Amino acid sequence: MASPLRFDGRVVLVTGAGGGLGRAYALAFAERGASVVVNDLGGDFKGVGKGSSAADKVVEEIRRKGGKAVANYDSVEAGEKVVKTALDAFGRIDVVINNAGILRDRSFGRISDEDWDIIHRVHLRGSFLVTRAAWDHMKKQNFGRIIMTSSASGIFGNFGQANYSAAKLGLLGLSNTLALEGKKNNIHCNTIAPTAASRMTQTILPQDLMDVLKPDYVAPLVLWLCHENCEENGGLFEVGAGWIGKLRWERTLGAIVRQRNQPMTPEAVQANWTKICDFDNAAKPQRIQESFDTIVGALSKIDSDGEVMANRTSHVSSAATSGIAGAVGHKLPPFSSSYTELDTIMYALGVGASMKEPKDLKFIYEGSSDFSCLPTLGVIMAQKSIMGGRLAEIPGLSINLAKVLHGEQYLELYKPLPRAGELKCEAVVADVLDKGSGLVLLMDVYSYSGEELICYNQFSIFVVGSGGFGGKRTSDKVKAAVAIPNRPPDAVLTDTTSLNQAALYRLSGDWNPLHIDPNFASLAGFDKPILHGLCTFGFSARHVLQQFADNDVSRFKAIKVRFAKPVYPGQTLQTEMWKEGNRIHFQTKIQETGDIVISNAYVDLVPTSDILAKTPSEGGELQSTLVFEEIGRRLQGIGQEVVKKVNAVFEWHITKGGNTAAKWTIDLKNGSGKVYQGPAKGSADTTITLSDEDFIDVVLGKLDPQKAFFSGRLKARGNIMLSQKLQMILKDYAKL
Ligand code: NAI
Repeated sequence: MASPLRFDGRVVLVTGAGGGLGRAYALAFAERGASVVVNDLGGDFKGVGKGSSAADKVVEEIRRKGGKAVANYDSVEAGEKVVKTALDAFGRIDVVINNAGILRDRSFGRISDEDWDIIHRVHLRGSFLVTRAAWDHMKKQNFGRIIMTSSASGIFGNFGQANYSAAKLGLLGLSNTLALEGKKNNIHCNTIAPTAASRMTQTILPQDLMDVLKPDYVAPLVLWLCHENCEENGGLFEVGAGWIGKLRWERTLGAIVRQRNQPMTPEAVQANWTKICDFDNAAKPQRIQESFDTIVGALSKIDSDGEVMANRTSHVSSAATSGIAGAVGHKLPPFSSSYTELDTIMYALGVGASMKEPKDLKFIYEGSSDFSCLPTLGVIMAQKSIMGGRLAEIPGLSINLAKVLHGEQYLELYKPLPRAGELKCEAVVADVLDKGSGLVLLMDVYSYSGEELICYNQFSIFVVGSGGFGGKRTSDKVKAAVAIPNRPPDAVLTDTTSLNQAALYRLSGDWNPLHIDPNFASLAGFDKPILHGLCTFGFSARHVLQQFADNDVSRFKAIKVRFAKPVYPGQTLQTEMWKEGNRIHFQTKIQETGDIVISNAYVDLVPTSDILAKTPSEGGELQSTLVFEEIGRRLQGIGQEVVKKVNAVFEWHITKGGNTAAKWTIDLKNGSGKVYQGPAKGSADTTITLSDEDFIDVVLGKLDPQKAFFSGRLKARGNIMLSQKLQMILKDYAKL
């Protein structure tokens, strides 16, 4: 269960809280620790009259239950006074719920000036005045949550409510802009369109519906949207009866209806009407830039396509999208690249493997017994296969390489990379997405060693300014980034990059001058050359491997990252990690600034049980072999200490199908201990016989060795008492 959402120390102002929905919000906030200002003018539902009893009653109710509340009887049109009550009583203002409202329903022709004005004054102007009075306080404290109350009448229109609909949708426009302006100060503004029983709806809704549409079925949404943990900003929600849905805009691909140097005619609009209104493959624009970009994109299409073809007014946009459709599935020319142990080491140094960490030796010394290639080297060859102008040659797309950004990266390994070798890469355009402000090119790259598929990469390449062609925003081909868990990280590792980090990393093959040439970097708008995103990626992956897989490259399955911000060489990278089963979520920050540079990332590890299970299927080998090898590896460095504790030689007879299939010796008596295959050189103190399966069960803690002994599944000869110490070995040193 998630921990309860509390509002202790928060000051919440609810306007129109003397009844209906507002009362439910006030009670709910107070119950969860907030200090509440209960504002209500106390008039009737048409806005006639005033009084203090409505607000007082709710304040009393809150206090009776042990909560904190004060009343305010001003109209929301006196926004400053309303907010002052919060400041005077509680010293701050954190949350504003703009809820007060009245109705003056009339069919459109009969709406008087007064009916129009009062509705706008209470709903739209009142929300503006109250919110503006709170705004600077929220900015200063770098926290604020605001709710605007709209209505289905505003969103969809409703007979007899022209004045109300207009004001209610006006609130959405207000909220949309506040969401943008408040964002950098952690002020979030969201809009709800509720349905609930209240005096306002009692003349409209039948009684049986009134009985079940409780305001309590709306309030929890308002509380969540106003909680400090809620990131939602600029959203619009319909809510009622315990159901909540989110709304957004949708826009057709549209059609260009004029040609360069030709007048635009209503006939061309008519001719294209079906297409203009066709919601197939509709875009879902979210920002004003997307609106502007579409217009600019249309302009440039009109400019570039004019005069070449006759009478293609209705087809310009579809020509653009069909060009893109042609790009999808396009294969880049095949590419091969070999690498040596020198390259493997160079890469490891480039992503921060270092002599200061003894366990890194396996990545930077070819003479190490377990010399290994860092899994993320798999991205290097794949990247080479799509560089060198190859992207610019994709048919149907004209990619300006100067506008290309690396957005996201996915890498999956099917087996550890060889320490040196040749990889053949096949790159294919998986999809092309339209993000409005740019185009996203999804490049899938498959890398083979001989005939064997070794790894798969997906590059998400963002081409600035090439969006707005009316394409789709998402694709089922996308390897999606995943949000990090909402709790403090389980582990954090840091590494300070050197001033030469980019200079070193580029030797692995990314020669972009942006990372080394100060003039080039300043042309691109940076103070100095920036680190390669994939270098930070390598650092982070190494941290995860070190922290959660003991640097065992065979445990590395896949990684996904989103590049969020640039890093300058010399800055300290801080990888924050969360373990959730075999998935390690992570994000990487610059320690000095706190900026997140890699977000929504994860590494998937191969479950240890898979490593164990793989062996028999591949050639009928024993599962126990891996465990003995692992015990051997783990004894390195701590062998002497264990020898002191155990002082015995164990010989193992591992059986398969009743026959001895292997013999192993764990020597914890001599030198700094040793694990080797075969009978004990010299004599064993204890000889243990058990099946391969039972051995694994003992290691995994599923089978108690003593019970196995007494039931005859485990046989022990020699000094049986010594086998007690075995448990310690298996428990502490074979844990996988
Ligand atoms: P309600 O009439 O029970 O509550 C509105 C409260 O606002 C009343 O207590 C009233 O005294 C107060 N108020 C009116 N003018 C005021 C002013 N100038 N200053 C301060 N307080 C004032 O109605 P209900 O249903 O709880 O409505 C709450 C909000 O939800 C309103 O903005 C309404 O338009 C909106 N809404 C409600 C729907 C529903 O199904 N109940 C549907 C769509 C929107």
